[in-house]
Amino acid sequence: MGAEADKRCIVFLGPPGSGKGTQAEILAAEMEIPTISTGEMLRAAVSAGSELGERVEAVMASGALVDDDLMAEVVQARLEHDDTDGGFFLDGYPRTEIQAAHLDRILGEVGGRLGGVLFVTVPEEELVRRALARGRGDDRSEVIHERLRVYREQTAPLVAHYDSRGLLHRVAGHQAIEEVTDEIRRIVGALAA
Ligand code: AP5
Repeated sequence: MGAEADKRCIVFLGPPGSGKGTQAEILAAEMEIPTISTGEMLRAAVSAGSELGERVEAVMASGALVDDDLMAEVVQARLEHDDTDGGFFLDGYPRTEIQAAHLDRILGEVGGRLGGVLFVTVPEEELVRRALARGRGDDRSEVIHERLRVYREQTAPLVAHYDSRGLLHRVAGHQAIEEVTDEIRRIVGALAA
C-alpha cells in the first residue's frame, strides 16, 4: 500500500432486493473503486464449479447464510488484493454480528478502515415484488421469504450495532434508482469531506 492509500471500506447493508448491489455498482463505477459483493463472488464460484461453489450451492439455493468462518476466509482473501487500496464498497457483507466482528479484524489485518455503513430501506412488499420480477435462481417465492426471515433474524441487528458506533447512514431505497444514487452520492461525499 502506498503512503497516500486510504483503504476505506463503505458497507451496503439492507434486506434482499433493497438495491444494494445496483447502487454499489453505479457509485463504484463513478468513483473508480471496486465493489466487492459476496453474493456475486459466491454465485461466480457456483458457476465455475469450484470447491467453494460446491460447498455453498445448496445453502444459497435454500436462502440460508453461508458459514461465517468460510465467509471470513473469502472476504479476507479478496481484501488482500491491492485494487482495494484506494477504497472499496462492500455489498452483502457483513450479515451477522459475528461477521461484523470478523470484518473489524480483517480490516485491521489488511490495513483498512470502516468509513461508514449505508443502510438501504425498502418496504417488504416492494422487496418481494422486485425479486419476483427479477427471477434469479433464489428469487422463487418461498426462498425470497426465507431470505427475508433470515435477514430480520440475523442481519437486522447490525443496524443498531453500527448506529451505536456512529457509522450508520439511512438511505430511502423506495425511490427511482437515480434518486437513490443521488442520496447515496451526497452521503458518501460528506463522508469524504
Ligand atoms: P446476495 O447476492 O447478497 O443477495 P441478497 O442480499 O438477497 O440481495 P439481492 O441481490 O437480492 O438484493 P440487492 O439489495 O443487492 O438488490 P439488487 O440491487 O440486486 O446473496 C445471495 C446469497 O448468497 C444469500 O442468500 C446467501 O446464501 C449468500 N451470501 C451472500 N453474502 C453472504 C454473507 N455475507 N454471509 C453468508 N451468506 C452470504 O436489486 C434487486 C432488484 O431490484 C433488481 O432487479 C434491480 O434491478 C431492482 N431495483 C434495484 N433498485 C431499484 C429501485 N430503486 N427501484 C426499482 N427496482 C430496483
